[in-house]
Amino acid sequence: MGKKKFSVNGNFKDSINTVKFLIERKQFVNSAPAVLPTRTDDFGVNKVAKSLHPKEQKLVISRIEDHAGIAKSYYFSSKGAPLAYFKAGQYLTFKLEIGSSVVTRSYSIASSPASALNGEYQITVKRIANGFVSDYILDNWNVGDEVIAYAPEGNLTYSPLRDAKNIVAVAGGSGITPFLSLARAIDQGDEDCTLTLLYGCRASDEILFKAELDALSEKNDKINVVYVLSHSDEEGYEKGFVGADIIKKYAPEGNYSIFVCGPGGMYKYLETELPKLEKEKKYIRFEVFSSGKKADEEPKEFSIKVINRGEESVIKASSNETVLCAFERAGIVVPARCHTGECGFCRSKLVSGKVYIPEGEDRRRIADMQFNFIHPCCCYPESDLVVRIN
Ligand code: FES
Repeated sequence: MGKKKFSVNGNFKDSINTVKFLIERKQFVNSAPAVLPTRTDDFGVNKVAKSLHPKEQKLVISRIEDHAGIAKSYYFSSKGAPLAYFKAGQYLTFKLEIGSSVVTRSYSIASSPASALNGEYQITVKRIANGFVSDYILDNWNVGDEVIAYAPEGNLTYSPLRDAKNIVAVAGGSGITPFLSLARAIDQGDEDCTLTLLYGCRASDEILFKAELDALSEKNDKINVVYVLSHSDEEGYEKGFVGADIIKKYAPEGNYSIFVCGPGGMYKYLETELPKLEKEKKYIRFEVFSSGKKADEEPKEFSIKVINRGEESVIKASSNETVLCAFERAGIVVPARCHTGECGFCRSKLVSGKVYIPEGEDRRRIADMQFNFIHPCCCYPESDLVVRIN
């Protein structure tokens, strides 16, 4: 009688290996110390994570540069730990106490990432009509003052896996800063993309950083800068608004990504212009820093009952300001960063009441929508509310 042959199929082998793995894992877990190690800061990886994503950064204003009365650049050094590194295009969110309000506002970093390694950040603040926070900064910040900023954040950054290698940047006013940072990073060899910068201003005397942009464009083949003036007809400048025609005229051959940063009016205009380019959605990216206000002919007044870590208070809110604005005005500190509904830091539970979320600004997860969580930075009250801050 011949020997009976057995064959072991793959599934059976997998099952044996899984059981073996479970036994080994149990032994490993049982051999671990009963008490968790507490000095987690000693682990190298934690040190790196902490330096890249500090909870807060204490900064000192080291110098201030005036841009012909239109804007000011603020340069910061660290008061303590080294500055957190960032990618060109990211922003810093500052926490300020103005009167009885505690507000947060984000400003794109204008300096290059390499400058953070050398201990310096730069932001540029432009005076805008009714700019509550920007006016406060321009009128009150002085050299030597200490300010609080969170870690750099934001997604208006070049990523070779996601973006085309050619970036067409559409900038308006002080929206030039993330692209100045990108131009500097390209010139310093820290970013491997090309930059066609279409910079819209009302007139040539409102162009920020012109001398430096011209110099970068002159010396580096990867950088091309075009100025577009909307309210002034001057020789050597494009006239009008940055739209589909101007983008087509200056965009490089082949595929390109479009990055946009500027005032609200520019976004409105581009809403109808960009579709003419028939680009895939993933190749168009925006930076929006909301002022937290909406035009409303007759603002209505509501009340918000705020539940914050077990404490309750009732504050006033207006229908033309975001719920976050109402919190800030009342001095309630909410962990907010982007002010555009993107980062999720301000996520709170709407216990009752109705809010309005402008079209295109609802960036909540589906589960959050189902369980009535909101991003107060882009919700406007439409009734009295009860909100629990997470
Ligand atoms: S501050 Fe980022 S989602 Fe509200």
